[in-house]
Amino acid sequence: MKKVGKIKRVKGSLRVPSDKSVTHRAFFLGALARGVTRVYEPLLSRDTLATLELLRALGTEVRQEDGLVVIKGRNYRFTEPDRVLDAENSGTTARIACGVLSAQPFFSVLTGDASLRRRPMLRVVEPLREMGAWIDGREEGNRLPLAVRGGPLRGIAYFNKRSSAQVKTALLLAGLRAEGWTEVVEPVLSRDHTERMLQLFGAKLELVAEERGHAVKLKGPQELTGSEVYCPADPSSAAFFTALALLAPEGELLLKDVMLNPTRDGFYRKALEMGGKIEFLNPRELSREPRADLLVRPSGRLKAVKVEPHEVPALVDELPVLAVMMALAEGVSVVRGAKELRYKESDRIKTIVENLRSMGVEVEEFEDGFAVKGTDRLKGALIKTHGDHRIAMAFAVAGLLTDEEVIIDDPSCVEVSYPGFWEDLAKVVELA
Ligand code: S3P
Repeated sequence: MKKVGKIKRVKGSLRVPSDKSVTHRAFFLGALARGVTRVYEPLLSRDTLATLELLRALGTEVRQEDGLVVIKGRNYRFTEPDRVLDAENSGTTARIACGVLSAQPFFSVLTGDASLRRRPMLRVVEPLREMGAWIDGREEGNRLPLAVRGGPLRGIAYFNKRSSAQVKTALLLAGLRAEGWTEVVEPVLSRDHTERMLQLFGAKLELVAEERGHAVKLKGPQELTGSEVYCPADPSSAAFFTALALLAPEGELLLKDVMLNPTRDGFYRKALEMGGKIEFLNPRELSREPRADLLVRPSGRLKAVKVEPHEVPALVDELPVLAVMMALAEGVSVVRGAKELRYKESDRIKTIVENLRSMGVEVEEFEDGFAVKGTDRLKGALIKTHGDHRIAMAFAVAGLLTDEEVIIDDPSCVEVSYPGFWEDLAKVVELA
């Protein structure tokens, strides 16, 4: 349990921890490559440490130093694990691992914590079976634990109507070992860190705009060469502080080195559309990922916005905190086409609606989203996180913006993506 106070002003500067998606990929690609990979400023959180442990269990040598992880690549030749692989709370770890294990000529079993064991896996299992992997599990392979016996694969062409970067990554990493072309087409481009990083590691890809959407193709087999990855700050973590600084009564906040990849910056575009005052300073690119420093200022009452289905992939992880901003905006905001939220660390449509209602906000729930009627006053509440890190952090922001008492039921769940969250919050917030 954690009690959240009321903010008076926001101040100073912060470099939030590095991007979770980039860190997972740097660890996986480093282990798959030939030679050594150095990952600078990786995110070391529960999710990314689960990926590192899994790679170690497959025989990968990993050295952790201050602000650096050094990985000795196995060039796709791992050793059969003698224990069950545990992705813990991390969907990204589990789904990408399925792709990696599918290309390994041995037996492995993959599981996760209670939340992950409820999340759907057929989205990766089905296409990987089509490529030639043998995978079985609960509910015919839709739920962990999964058993995988990998082996020779053949490339496939896969249309993924859900636009999932986890699925795309699993298929591309399997495709690097498959015979022939592997192609993944998405109606809306999902986060493209894998495509960017694969090129950093020397892979040859084709990126094609087709009528059906965005296609990425690669011809297997291909090898990866170990590289250096400089991880940017996580825009999903920075979103909590952006929201807080926009809605704070006074002050300003500088958020440093935030990744602004166009497949990830949807939250920032919406915040501007709502009338938020954000300046993007010193734009640059490093390790193929664009980034900038963000100067965020209190912006008064924000305006309601609509989130359309095609906009969802670029802000999907930010919807909990965007919902909090909507709750304090002028007018009715609507989110549609976001059914995927139901399959995240919690059913996020339900947890957003439930917690906003408990703070006195009028919310309508849809199967694929919600509508929020903005108010100028949030009520005190006991926030039920359902163990979901992004719900805890989004409602911590909400809690700072009301005079009444807000209690977060499980503050420790932030460790999944942002272990120092409460300490960082204390650094930049002056309480009333
Ligand atoms: C992620 C992809 C997204 C996102 C998740 C991280 C990734 O999930 O919500 O937090 O790193 O590939 P989907 O692939 O299910 O869209």
